[in-house]
Amino acid sequence: MIELLRRFGGKFRRYMVIGPACKLIEVIFDLLTPLVIAQMIDKGIGSHDVNAVIHYGMVLGAMAVIGISFTLVCQKMAALTSQGMGTDIRGALYQHINKLSYAELDRFGTPSLITRITNDVNQVQLAVALGVRMLIRWPFLAVGSMVAALAIDLKLGIIFLICTPAIGLVFWFVMARCIPYYKQLQAKLDCIALICREGLSGARVVRAFVREDHERERFAQAADDQANTAIVVGKLSSILNPVTFLVMNLGVCAILWVGGIQVNVLELTQGQVMAFVNYMTQTLTSIVYVANLVVVFTKASASASRINEVLNCVPSITDEGNQPVALPEPGNVAPVPALSFDHASFSFGVGAANAVSDVTLELPLGKTLGIIGGTGSGKSTLVSLIPRLYDASAGSVSVMGADVRAWPLDQLRHVVATVPQRASLVSGTIRSNLTWRDESATDDELWAALDMAQASEFVRNKPQGLDAPVEAGGKNFSGGQRQRLTIARALVGSPQILIMDDSASALDFKTDAALRHAIRERSVRGAAEGGLPLTTVIVSQRVSTVRDADMICVLDHGSVAGLGTHDELYASCQLYREICQSQLRREELEGQQGSTVPASAPTAPAPTCSKEGC
Ligand SMILES: Nc1ncnc2c1ncn2[C@@H]1O[C@H](COP(=O)(O)OP(=O)(O)OP(=O)(O)O)[C@@H](O)[C@H]1O
Ligand SMILES: [Mg+2]
Repeated sequence: MIELLRRFGGKFRRYMVIGPACKLIEVIFDLLTPLVIAQMIDKGIGSHDVNAVIHYGMVLGAMAVIGISFTLVCQKMAALTSQGMGTDIRGALYQHINKLSYAELDRFGTPSLITRITNDVNQVQLAVALGVRMLIRWPFLAVGSMVAALAIDLKLGIIFLICTPAIGLVFWFVMARCIPYYKQLQAKLDCIALICREGLSGARVVRAFVREDHERERFAQAADDQANTAIVVGKLSSILNPVTFLVMNLGVCAILWVGGIQVNVLELTQGQVMAFVNYMTQTLTSIVYVANLVVVFTKASASASRINEVLNCVPSITDEGNQPVALPEPGNVAPVPALSFDHASFSFGVGAANAVSDVTLELPLGKTLGIIGGTGSGKSTLVSLIPRLYDASAGSVSVMGADVRAWPLDQLRHVVATVPQRASLVSGTIRSNLTWRDESATDDELWAALDMAQASEFVRNKPQGLDAPVEAGGKNFSGGQRQRLTIARALVGSPQILIMDDSASALDFKTDAALRHAIRERSVRGAAEGGLPLTTVIVSQRVSTVRDADMICVLDHGSVAGLGTHDELYASCQLYREICQSQLRREELEGQQGSTVPASAPTAPAPTCSKEGC
């Protein structure tokens, strides 16, 4: 909490001084009130002097008005500080999370990051508001009331001195047991957020697989777990109020008893006894509030450490000091490979098996690399090393002849456009989604990208065209339409390298072929117009998508099982041959070198054939 105050409190230092100072003035009035009431009782009510009652009544009224004025100023300072700090912390967290690499994001997990940026910041905000308003008030009121009471009468003060530690002891007993549970509650809230997120974002799948009962059960278990912990805390803290008020009221009885005797022997006045009762009530109530402050600050300190954990997480992927990389001259592209992996390996954690193992390959500019392999063979992981979404754990990856770690990240990610495996769009319009890579892209450029991505037809059919709305996650588009829009998004801003990670999986064969044809044309056109030809990396599980690539990399458990053209691999790589045999028609296989067509090769007619003869 202190660390957060140091980091974000500086701007609000003025408010944090003015607020408590105003509260202090209000507390002084609160402390004076019992004395004025005592005067009112002794000089007004006791002596049947109406004028004195009116006089002290007016003094009390004036004190109340002044006290409220200072309270209002304090409230405003508290609101400005807490809301301002909350906004700043949220902004800093959001910015920092955006700088974290995939590895760090994987480590925290999205639901936990969401809870931190919402619930945890709220807890800190609440603590700051209470801190400005109450941190001075309750301790000062408690001590001030005690001192004032003891100043009235030391004998009655003994009762006071017995009651206060008794209540303090009860609080210590309860709090010491509650505090660990408050920390657990935050972690359990994370768990509920995780289940909510999974259940809601996958609602369609859950329904399709009739898993509603299972999901309900999972949510109920997590909610019950959280509720049970909250109930334990609730039960423990429910002891507080009755015990506190019991001790307090016993104390008041004792004061009235002993005070009454002293009034009778004229050692004390009635007003002084009343003032004593008021001070005692004020002190003990203050202790209750101080305990509440302890609860709020305990929760806030657990939240603050979760926030600090994110803010202090140093992004493992940075580009500090990296100078812009000069791209190859269009006329002189031969010596520099667009892309090269040099014994690159990657693992998701210390001790975890390599997801990518010792990959070495070179792809010249303007060429197409196809990556094929079974599920979980490391295709997505391999291509995510190119724009530095992850850094290779061993070996290196180079783009245009320069190690990716030497590139400024912005430049690298502008040169390399990625179409992720999971097509994701954000709420807004088609235009706002397409201009991510280049905000100044003209309508013509957007339509050209949509044409290439085979998406222009359905966009043109929308009455608002480029300004048609996109709902969160692109829910108002089909899977194939979403994929085409994400491909178009990657093509805007003239990338030099295009990575499509299984981006055509939801496209029919004809559209897939037309898309690849358009990309190839664009590459040739780019070179003819004096620019760099487009280099393409296509990840797919379909042989038909990669077979025309200049180079195909066959991955198996993260390692390269084969590297070459379709014909070379068919002749030399058993895994590739098996994939082909399971996917291509008998007629297509018969033309292959060294092919022995198995009886199991599909004979059914292929889906609509493209001009490439897929
Ligand atoms: N974020 C992650 N944390 C830990 N392990 C991961 C993570 N992402 C992937 N893996 C593991 O790394 C391996 C390679 O995964 P990857 O996503 O690269 O496979 P893929 O070939 O793209 O599969 P698919 O064809 O299903 O997309 C898998 O064993 C997977 O379990
Ligand atoms: Mg993948």
